[in-house]
Amino acid sequence: MCGIVGYIGTETASDIIIDTLRRLEYRGYDSAGIVTIDSGQFHLCRAVGKLKQLEAALSACPQNGHIGIGHTRWATHGGVTEANAHPHVADDKVAIVHNGIIENYRQLKDELVAEGCSFASETDSEVLAHLFAQAADNGLTGKDALQHVMARISGAFALAAIFVEEPDTMLVARNASPLAIGMADGVICVASDAAAMAHLTRTVIYLKDGDIGVLRPGSAEIWDKSGMPANRELIVSSASPIMVDKGGYRHFMEKEIHEQPDAIANTLSAMIDGTGRLTAGMSDVDCDRISHIVILAAGTSAYAGEIGRYWIEQLAGIAVTVENASEYRYRHPAIQRDGVAIAISQSGESLDTLMALRYAAEQGLKTYAIVNVEESSIAREVDTVLPTRAGAEIGVASTKAFTAQLTVLLSLAIRLGRHHGRLSDDKAEALTTLLRSVPGAVGQAINQTEQIRPIAAELKRATSCLFLGRGRLYPLALEAALKLKELSYIHAEGFAAGEMKHGPIALIEEGLPVICLVDNDPLSEKTLSNLKEAQARGATIITIASQTISEEIDFADHNIVINDYDPVLSPLIMAVPAQLLAYYTAFEKGTDVDQPRNLAKSVTVE
Ligand code: M6R
Repeated sequence: MCGIVGYIGTETASDIIIDTLRRLEYRGYDSAGIVTIDSGQFHLCRAVGKLKQLEAALSACPQNGHIGIGHTRWATHGGVTEANAHPHVADDKVAIVHNGIIENYRQLKDELVAEGCSFASETDSEVLAHLFAQAADNGLTGKDALQHVMARISGAFALAAIFVEEPDTMLVARNASPLAIGMADGVICVASDAAAMAHLTRTVIYLKDGDIGVLRPGSAEIWDKSGMPANRELIVSSASPIMVDKGGYRHFMEKEIHEQPDAIANTLSAMIDGTGRLTAGMSDVDCDRISHIVILAAGTSAYAGEIGRYWIEQLAGIAVTVENASEYRYRHPAIQRDGVAIAISQSGESLDTLMALRYAAEQGLKTYAIVNVEESSIAREVDTVLPTRAGAEIGVASTKAFTAQLTVLLSLAIRLGRHHGRLSDDKAEALTTLLRSVPGAVGQAINQTEQIRPIAAELKRATSCLFLGRGRLYPLALEAALKLKELSYIHAEGFAAGEMKHGPIALIEEGLPVICLVDNDPLSEKTLSNLKEAQARGATIITIASQTISEEIDFADHNIVINDYDPVLSPLIMAVPAQLLAYYTAFEKGTDVDQPRNLAKSVTVE
């Protein structure tokens, strides 16, 4: 989290930096700031809140320099205040921006304070400014200054520093947090991702962990963590410029919900080879080697993994474990060395997932990633990428990336099932045909929104609610609860419907909304009994069900009905009403749909 930007060139740096920060605001929006150098001094401007607050502050005091750095913050250490906003300046000599966490900052701060430094913020990041100032006082510049600072700090960081006395130079470093350098004639820029500066240049260098760099217009000198010159590849990025246009929708999330038929169709086309065969991006050799799968992911991506587990185990008979990425490496799991690890990540930058993946690779597992951002850290580290082609997802709540992930996972289940002989050719073909029908079915589900709005208008008054599901719809119930809580701030929990009687039923009191996803499958009778049990205790029952089964749910207070579909597809189709219910509840409540409080789109801290 946090987005960082740097620019040295011929244009007005503040204009370029603001424009680039706008494309990085998905990384955090607690505060933003910019510093430029003009006429031999820093011009610092910072503001609490979204970027528009910074833009307003800047319009009152325009900046003219051609070098500058900028930051959009997701607060970690220190509250959401202007003093804690980046950039941080030390001794009017050096200014820094930082993404990540300096884990030993407490000890460094104590030492620096004892040496006479005075701190203006509560952040961990400010130690970097003082360490660079200390290096400058010792006569260190460029690589030497960077090495002085790198030798002292531990943790995750992507940073950029500029010095009043060297207005044509920027120092950068990276460890675990992403940083890309963009090159163009007479210009050098940096950003937390290449897409954010794709409007400036597509010629980029990705730093590797431990790299440090001295940047000047048109040149980048880079050294690796052992201090040796590193010849990092200059690539032409294929990242599309991040769109900051809602295309006529009220919110990016609404737009992205409506983009799901295309996102699924595009993703599916990457799963099918030139002859029309569903390969799921896997060679026969790849498929041979897969006898066990460990899925590593966080949040919505982890719920996609849980749904994938149901499909892969049922259709391919291959054992799958799904791990919260943040727990995996620290619990020293027993590793099945003949297995493979699959990371699932929209951003490809979630630090928990990246670290879990590295741990799996160190244990000797072949690594795959189902990832939406092609040039992300995770995509660049794994052995094989299974791409989702959802396009840029801007809304913090994941929607189209989730259904694109499900598309890859169902493709993979069918591919492995056929390869390992669990599915006949005919059955695999029939399932592939079903998969091809998903974009149309999702499009129909999107158009059934008129039933959802009045229910959302009631739900907005709830302080708590439960989501239930069975089988493949149980992880979807967890995802539906996450969507509602992150968008509307209503407390929501997901449970397996059959688990209610083992404890959670104690939560039910008069009027508690219980929202149940019901499939037309052999278990539906049991699910409906669980709902009756909840209703008997006073719950308000809301169901999301397909046409045929909904005819049996005449006892529900509200029933959201969608067209019938084959139950194997249920998570893909039922995701839509679950997303729309969360969207409209937030909309009715007036919360910030695209940028909910306390969240960020890309979570690059542990
Ligand atoms: O980019 P990733 O898929 O790795 O992100 C994982 C989670 O942080 C993410 O899914 C998060 O839970 C979203 N806010 C869910 O809407």
